[in-house]
Amino acid sequence: MSTVTAKSQREHRVTQRSLAARKRRHEPFSMLTAYDFTFARIFDEAGVDVLLVGDSLGNVVQGEDTTLPVTLDDVVYHTRLVARGVRRAMVVGDMPFGSYQVSPEDALRNAIRLVKEGGAHAVKLEGGVAMATTIERIVAADIPVMGHVGLTPQSIHRMGGYRVQGRTDSERERVLADAKAVEVAGAFAVVLEGMPTELATQITSELEIPTIGIGAGVDCDAQVLVMHDMLGLSDWAPSFVKQFANLGAVASQAARQYIEEVVNRKFPGDEHGYR
Ligand code: KIV
Repeated sequence: MSTVTAKSQREHRVTQRSLAARKRRHEPFSMLTAYDFTFARIFDEAGVDVLLVGDSLGNVVQGEDTTLPVTLDDVVYHTRLVARGVRRAMVVGDMPFGSYQVSPEDALRNAIRLVKEGGAHAVKLEGGVAMATTIERIVAADIPVMGHVGLTPQSIHRMGGYRVQGRTDSERERVLADAKAVEVAGAFAVVLEGMPTELATQITSELEIPTIGIGAGVDCDAQVLVMHDMLGLSDWAPSFVKQFANLGAVASQAARQYIEEVVNRKFPGDEHGYR
């Protein structure tokens, strides 16, 4: 590869700087979750800007009820698969429950694993004010951090379920303070999950870093969805999800036709055999 080509490719990579510029230009960007090479390649080629290897893999890949059992080894493994499929998108490795709450040093050690072994370009962690020191510690080691406030699925036992956050005055103040703390600590972007549109709009206008909404309305600087939900691969999806395709039905129909052709000796045909 010539130096010019390599240079122009690098220039087209999505970085925290290019995402900050998108916010300044009021150009929304897109983020999707991905957990393997094949979908990472498809989404990257389609132009998705950020691929999040979310701990939602506990739900949609592992079949768990919550994200809590997901391990750092799980996320490192899936991040490596996704990183191999990407040429342009930013790959963000999600820090699972237990991998960043013990101490900032422990969090940094684990963030380094996501970058070094997983090939992540950035890490994401849940929490605001309480996680500010941890974010600072990771950012000080030159690892870009994406925050996540509002409905934080790892806090399911504190929240008493997956409840929209920020509906009362005191909750609204808390979510706003969390978002600001994440920015002050040095995060380059923040996910706003499960909160009234009006609150997400206010946070988006008060922060300099991009906000990435999920169940937080259209005014965020970016949007994120879990790929299984938007592709119609989940049994159930929250009401804020738009299903952009029904791959579940397509896969089911293909499997039924395959069974029918196998049991009736229609497949394989002559054209699928060797001579
Ligand atoms: O784990 C995940 O997929 C997430 C997104 C829903 C933001 O945290």
